[in-house]
Amino acid sequence: MRDNRTGLEYDVPITDGTIRASDIGQIKAADDAPGLAVYDPGFVNTAACRSSITYIDGDKGVLEYRGYPIEQLAEKSSFLEVAYLLVHGNLPSKAEFEQWVHEITYHTFVHENIKGFMQGFRYDAHPMGMLMASVSSLSTFYPDAANIADPDSRHLQIVRMIAKMPTLGAWAFRHAQGKPYVYPDNDLSYTANFLSMLFKMSEPKYVGDERIIKALDTLFILHADHEQNASANAVRSVGSTQVDPYSAVAAGVGALYGPLHGGANEAVLRMLRRIGSKENIPSFIEGVKSGNERLMGFGHRVYKNYDPRARIIKGAADDVFEVTGVNPLLEIAKELEKIALEDEYFVKRRLYPNVDFYSGLIYEALAFPPEMFTVLFAIGRAPGWLAQWLELTQDKEQKIARPKQIYTGERTLAFTPASERWA
Ligand code: ACO
Repeated sequence: MRDNRTGLEYDVPITDGTIRASDIGQIKAADDAPGLAVYDPGFVNTAACRSSITYIDGDKGVLEYRGYPIEQLAEKSSFLEVAYLLVHGNLPSKAEFEQWVHEITYHTFVHENIKGFMQGFRYDAHPMGMLMASVSSLSTFYPDAANIADPDSRHLQIVRMIAKMPTLGAWAFRHAQGKPYVYPDNDLSYTANFLSMLFKMSEPKYVGDERIIKALDTLFILHADHEQNASANAVRSVGSTQVDPYSAVAAGVGALYGPLHGGANEAVLRMLRRIGSKENIPSFIEGVKSGNERLMGFGHRVYKNYDPRARIIKGAADDVFEVTGVNPLLEIAKELEKIALEDEYFVKRRLYPNVDFYSGLIYEALAFPPEMFTVLFAIGRAPGWLAQWLELTQDKEQKIARPKQIYTGERTLAFTPASERWA
């Protein structure tokens, strides 16, 4: 590298297609000047860790967890097996899987006091706010979680977190409806139990339709991890302080709450409703092309090809609509996709449907209000956050996350006490 200010040249090693930011710190305009740093708002071109969890090739539309393509996992695996894979790094043996399912099943209950404080939220509290608060409260119920150097403790907290997410998410849903909270039914599978906690009323047992259970399980798989996205980064950043995993995951829930991250599927529904019928699609597309608005659910920072998750979700939508009846907005969505994929504006910019284009339609068909969409995302994403956190705790290179800044404020002003300034 050549510093144009001084004309000096430096050797900066390139490893895995990256240079180390610390290596360019040796480049200085003068001996007593600060070393050269990198300015990268939004981390658009900065690798913050080495990771072996999730691989994405956005140009080719490839997504793999621990090397397994998402298409195969969505078709042939289950959410709990994928959770095991993400957390442990390998597929389980039969005995390991049975043990994992047993552990998760028997940690689905939460302390009764959690129910008490969830009931303290206002009737119209957003379920993501309730989820974030209840997840972070777990650190007070399990102070042993602070012992992050102990592998057994780390394992126990991971099991507890994955097990309790559906309970907390379902109770936030019931709260908004003024319905009694439903306790976990440990006879049921992970996803079937979640449906039971959501929808059970006076019947002694609630068993959802197999096709719905499978579709929701698939949606959880599709959302289980997505490498260094905003919420994974939040988990890692907070986790880098060596705080307990519940506090770190609560930060992830907070990041996901934001409309730029977890909220786009809701925007897709609003857009489809506004379009209203197929006849209005051409004028809507014209509006998008002239820059008046965006085609929500299209485009992605990483994927410049069909988001592989969108393709799978489209299939799951058909299964769900077989049970619930077709969401009339589906016809508009399909037609919109067809027209957009053939239109030069979208082709040239490599804009394809992303994971959110069809997921909102499914959630709506399952009778979820839009505020719950992100909660479903969070339940699916929990194993990914925990895998990222676990990897962080064992990575010798990781330090407390503490970025630099370019200071733009005043310096060394003379302070005048208020009594003199206001005199
Ligand atoms: N509709 C119309 N035009 C679009 C869209 C869209 N959805 N997305 C991008 N473009 C256009 C931009 O106007 C820009 O055009 P230009 O070169 O003529 O200025 C070009 O495509 C590049 O777009 P950028 O905004 O630079 O792409 P970026 O990577 O920053 O944005 C994003 C990605 C935010 C996802 C964007 O595509 C978008 O806003 N999509 C709609 C919202 C959405 O669906 N978000 C969900 C993402 S998936 C998830 O987070 C789980």
